[in-house]
Amino acid sequence: MYRTHTCGELRLQNAGTEVTLSGWIQRTRKMGGMVFADLRDRYGITQLAFNDGIDPELCERASHLGREYVVQVTGKVAERENKNANLPTGDIEIIVSKLNVLNESVTPPFTIEDNTDGGDDLRMKYRYLDLRRACVRKNLELRHKMAFEVRSYLDKQGFLEVETPVLIGSTPEGARDFVVPSRMNPGQFYALPQSPQTLKQLLMVAGFDRYFQIVKCFRDEDLRADRQPEFTQIDCEMSFVEQEDIINMFEGMAKHLFKTILNIDMKEAFPRMTWHDAMKYYGSDKPDLRFDMKFVELMDILKGYGFSVFDGAAYIGGICAKGAATYTRKQLDQLTEFVKRPQIGAKGMVYARVEADGNVKSSVDKFYTQEVLQKMKAAFGAEPGDLILILSGDDAMKTRKQLCELRLEVAQQLGLRDKDKFACLWVVDFPMYEWSEEENRLMAMHHPFTSPKPEDIPLLDTDPASVRANAYDMVINGVEVGGGSIRIHDSELQAKVFKILGFTPEKAQEQFGFLMNAFKYGAPPHGGLAYGLDRFVSLFAKLDSIRDCIAFPKNNSGRDVMLDAPSAIDQKQLDELYLDVRPVKE
Ligand code: AMO
Repeated sequence: MYRTHTCGELRLQNAGTEVTLSGWIQRTRKMGGMVFADLRDRYGITQLAFNDGIDPELCERASHLGREYVVQVTGKVAERENKNANLPTGDIEIIVSKLNVLNESVTPPFTIEDNTDGGDDLRMKYRYLDLRRACVRKNLELRHKMAFEVRSYLDKQGFLEVETPVLIGSTPEGARDFVVPSRMNPGQFYALPQSPQTLKQLLMVAGFDRYFQIVKCFRDEDLRADRQPEFTQIDCEMSFVEQEDIINMFEGMAKHLFKTILNIDMKEAFPRMTWHDAMKYYGSDKPDLRFDMKFVELMDILKGYGFSVFDGAAYIGGICAKGAATYTRKQLDQLTEFVKRPQIGAKGMVYARVEADGNVKSSVDKFYTQEVLQKMKAAFGAEPGDLILILSGDDAMKTRKQLCELRLEVAQQLGLRDKDKFACLWVVDFPMYEWSEEENRLMAMHHPFTSPKPEDIPLLDTDPASVRANAYDMVINGVEVGGGSIRIHDSELQAKVFKILGFTPEKAQEQFGFLMNAFKYGAPPHGGLAYGLDRFVSLFAKLDSIRDCIAFPKNNSGRDVMLDAPSAIDQKQLDELYLDVRPVKE
């Protein structure tokens, strides 16, 4: 038997018992006639004690144990003299009588402790060592628990988990596909699913009624902290439902996760906001509502006083940071630099402080009387000690997005983006379409299978850009954790929507004939949603990047540095696939 207990299990009440443990040597230290070693496994750390006075030969062997050696020890559990209150096993140690080295280890490239000396790249290259660290392992344990609770909730609600294929044809969701060449069909390619969207809709036509799948999805898009090229969705679909049914079902799932994983009771219904209001008041379709700082529009108050920047602007808007009038000139200059960064693109920032006597002092005082500034103060409901920050521009949408960045930055600086706090929100009534400058046409904002709001269907013929969709996103702390829609289940309406998206009937038939044909055979009304599991876990684990809750993630260039993938393939494989690779032009 390799072990009678794990390294996280033994307590004072086990004192006197003979036990056998197996694990990795985290570190050893010599103290007088003793050698101590920390033995680690998935469950914790237990101190081993080797006593020179009892068994000098054993103690000598222990002193040569290197970091990450795999060993098996047998000994008696004893109460420790110097207890360690930071360890659950800190009251005891094992007085070792038998030591068996199961495997040696070369010196690891970084220390395997929470506070490691290993940089990002090194840890990713040796991810299997990184995963030995408790802080990383905990994220995977949390991920397992969350996936387990998801299955438990959905199973109780009558959902069936059905696997859909990974080698499929392309389903456009706005990102590029990863493609896989087919040896048996030379010159032809599968695409890896960006999501199982069309397949889950076909399962509804097949009568499966309530489907879910915890499923890998693949998108060839630029990577960010909350984006990986392969990620996991909790993908769901239901038949005979309206938007309200879906929202209730999946709000229920989120609440179930909050309760079972974090022991947080979310009693109230999650607030809802239209996409239009989210953009108007927060400049984002995923507003962070852990704090307020709602935008106030100032065109009516500040235009017409000779300040040319504002007079010529299409949009003037600001935020009020409570208690931030103490910001120094230097801090304000840094914020101005922040909004002027090319990624944000504002031209400048105006600020105004509300002083103790209620007077407003602004960076553009020479243009405005105190009376006008007081009107502005009233519009924000600002009080003494508050700081007002204002941006303007000739494109309202762009300026709002800049103001959104400023709002998030100021909130970060003021410590308002507290990771222990959770603000959940449904954003509803997304537009069906958005204009793409790149493609010079309307594109589906969610995906082409999303149904318009019934009352907006007539607008499809006259003003498609103003049509609203039965689409919704769930946002937590400014992160889009999930999204979905009620689908079109009528082949004629689907054909019309494809037409607006610029598909000829032939092209639509070629790409989506399978779905439109299926809709001719009695498709039920249906809709669904997909949560991003990685994002959900990283919010619960309070991580900055979803990478930290993925066992083997890709880096920012989409590479797996451990496996050294992607990589070239040999000529024989290329020949079998009828592929030629063109040299990359520098
Ligand atoms: P959507 O594209 O909004 O919808 O994706 C659903 C959720 O998946 C997560 N997500 C990602 N997570 C990590 N890395 C990525 N690259 C990434 N892309 C998306 C997000 C997002 O909210 N088929 C539809 C769902 C539906 O309509 O039912 C879909 O895929 O958390």
